[in-house]
Amino acid sequence: MNHFINIDSLCDRIRNDWKSDSAPLCRRIEAIYRENGIEMTTDPIDQQQYLSALFTIVKLIDARHIIETGTFVGCTTAAMACAMNDLHSDGVIETIDPAPWQYGGFDRKDPVAIAEQVLRQAFSNRVILHRGYSVQTWDESRNELPDVPRGVLAELALQPPKTDFLLIDGDHSYQGAWWDLKIGCRTLRPDGPRLVFVHDYHSISDVRQAVRDWHRRNQPWIVFRAYSKNSGFALMQCHPALIMAERRCPFNQSIKKRN
Ligand SMILES: C[S@@+](CC[C@H](N)C(=O)[O-])C[C@H]1O[C@@H](n2cnc3c(N)ncnc32)[C@H](O)[C@@H]1O
Repeated sequence: MNHFINIDSLCDRIRNDWKSDSAPLCRRIEAIYRENGIEMTTDPIDQQQYLSALFTIVKLIDARHIIETGTFVGCTTAAMACAMNDLHSDGVIETIDPAPWQYGGFDRKDPVAIAEQVLRQAFSNRVILHRGYSVQTWDESRNELPDVPRGVLAELALQPPKTDFLLIDGDHSYQGAWWDLKIGCRTLRPDGPRLVFVHDYHSISDVRQAVRDWHRRNQPWIVFRAYSKNSGFALMQCHPALIMAERRCPFNQSIKKRN
């Protein structure tokens, strides 16, 4: 396992793999869905880059434990599971979603049921699906807010930290992104790669602001890189001192958005 990650080398690898590996990866993921009875077409620009970036990261750091907020149809989970399969590792992905019947403007009905069908068949040994909210329920604009457990991420954070890679793509409100960062950071293994990836850093201003505020607040303890095209993403490496400080800190979920 590679714990000594140079984030700039990682970003170079992500960019290089976009040129060569992202289209074959997406064909591979589409084939997995097709084999399990679902027709799925990945968007050739935005989603392809996203899936490829995750695949590259998981492969390069040999992530053995991943937490993801926002399962949706499971494409991102599948991309990361493919990387684990290629490494023949015993890696596990825990993915959290309240599983609304419909999410935002997407026309897929019951998207998490699609994820369940495919991921349970294709990656049953490595994917754990949690039905619930990572922290609280803030994202009222996009979700019908099913009545399912809250605080799944906080529950996971009570366990000894073992996560190598945290992927945040669930509640896209300011509060949602902020608390996924703050609580999710506690799950990171201090002696591991300590990487956090936030999707939609470019396309959703509330997500961007939450990431910027969290970064600003913890500046000396975070190595920060951002990709600001299409949906964009932020990639951060947390210092062990930040993880330890967060684990000691009691939380009350009333953070206010800065103006
Ligand atoms: C943009 S989609 C995720 C896309 C997914 N990563 C993929 O590429 O297949 C966002 C998902 O987050 C879920 N979500 C919303 N609020 C959440 C929360 N508090 N915790 C976990 N998931 C949440 C939604 O139900 C939706 O399925």
